[in-house]
Amino acid sequence: MKYMGSKRLMLKNGLGQLLEREIAGANRFIDIFAGTGSVASHVAENYDIKVKAYDLQLYSAVISGAIVNRKEKIEWQPVWDRWYKQAKAIYISRRIPPLKKITKSTVIACRTWSGKQKFLSVTKAYGGHYFSPQQTVWIDAFRLALPKEAGVKETALAALIQAASQCAAAPGHTAQPFQPTKTAKPFLEEAWDKNIVDCTKAAFVSLSNRYAMQRGTSIVADANKAANGLHEGDLVFIDPPYSGVHYSRFYHVLETIAQGSCGEVTGRGRYPDRQYRPQSKYSLTKESKTALDDLLCKVSQKKANAILTFPNHECSNGLSGNIVRETAKKYFNVEEHSVVSKFSSLGGRGDGKKNESGRNARRNANELILVLKAKEK
Ligand SMILES: C[S@@+](CC[C@H](N)C(=O)[O-])C[C@H]1O[C@@H](n2cnc3c(N)ncnc32)[C@H](O)[C@@H]1O
Repeated sequence: MKYMGSKRLMLKNGLGQLLEREIAGANRFIDIFAGTGSVASHVAENYDIKVKAYDLQLYSAVISGAIVNRKEKIEWQPVWDRWYKQAKAIYISRRIPPLKKITKSTVIACRTWSGKQKFLSVTKAYGGHYFSPQQTVWIDAFRLALPKEAGVKETALAALIQAASQCAAAPGHTAQPFQPTKTAKPFLEEAWDKNIVDCTKAAFVSLSNRYAMQRGTSIVADANKAANGLHEGDLVFIDPPYSGVHYSRFYHVLETIAQGSCGEVTGRGRYPDRQYRPQSKYSLTKESKTALDDLLCKVSQKKANAILTFPNHECSNGLSGNIVRETAKKYFNVEEHSVVSKFSSLGGRGDGKKNESGRNARRNANELILVLKAKEK
């Protein structure tokens, strides 16, 4: 998935070893800002420990849950055959105008047609923008035809979200779609040409073959509230936002697919109303420090241990490696590690640095990994 701050690569670059070491003494693993669920899934698949994944957004809970909440493989072929057949019937019934060569006027025609599709929420909101009408009608059709069985349904929805993320016509996330301008048109053509059916199938096959050693849970919740339910013996993974722009601004398309609808959308980014875009204290410069302090205080009061990752520089949400380290030291004995990772502002100014605008702004950066051990009283 295209995602800002996924820890997938870091798992092979120091984080995986630290997790292995710390999980040995833990009763449960709690990923409290789960995002793509890369860490929660890694732990659930490889260790005999109960995993709980929390995030403010539903799409994250769906993706994490596809693995964390399921203890067996899915026999994907018969499920896929039924799912695809039903979706195809819906797709064919919509009579989508054929996609002609991409020009400004054909794109406008795609947008006009899509905007009239009252009963296809994703098409109405995003057709002709992040996706071609063909792609969005497939997304709606797959969404409407989701398998019914618990566990299977969630896995299918996760596959659809992952496929949409791969196909979206946007630089790295879904805050601004490519426009049919001279420079962006090749990117738009490339994205609209992607086969969403093949991507959905591939994601479904892959997810179906992955499962947890112990059945866990994935929940939509605020990390600071979730921390009230921690226990002694928990190992908490803390990977908070570093951006002063809310994650929900970047990933509203994925959230709409998870939710099934998003109301009216506005602006170039096709943003749903605020009520559909959860706001995080961690992305508000005036509140991020207090939020982090409150969270670490709660984790320590519960006598849980933690692993915390954060970029080792100043970030646009007002936090920095230094602030995070000093806050952690107030409540824990801290063991510090640092790894080089790819830092991404994903095409916007996700990290707020003035020189980081432009598409796929990525550079090497140091990322802190702090192992936090409850202080003996
Ligand atoms: C840096 S990302 C986590 C990435 C994740 N570790 C991964 O590997 O994909 C931060 C995540 O925290 C979530 N988030 C932001 N504020 C939150 C809050 N107050 N409580 C829970 N989750 C929050 C965002 O939606 C985002 O998914």
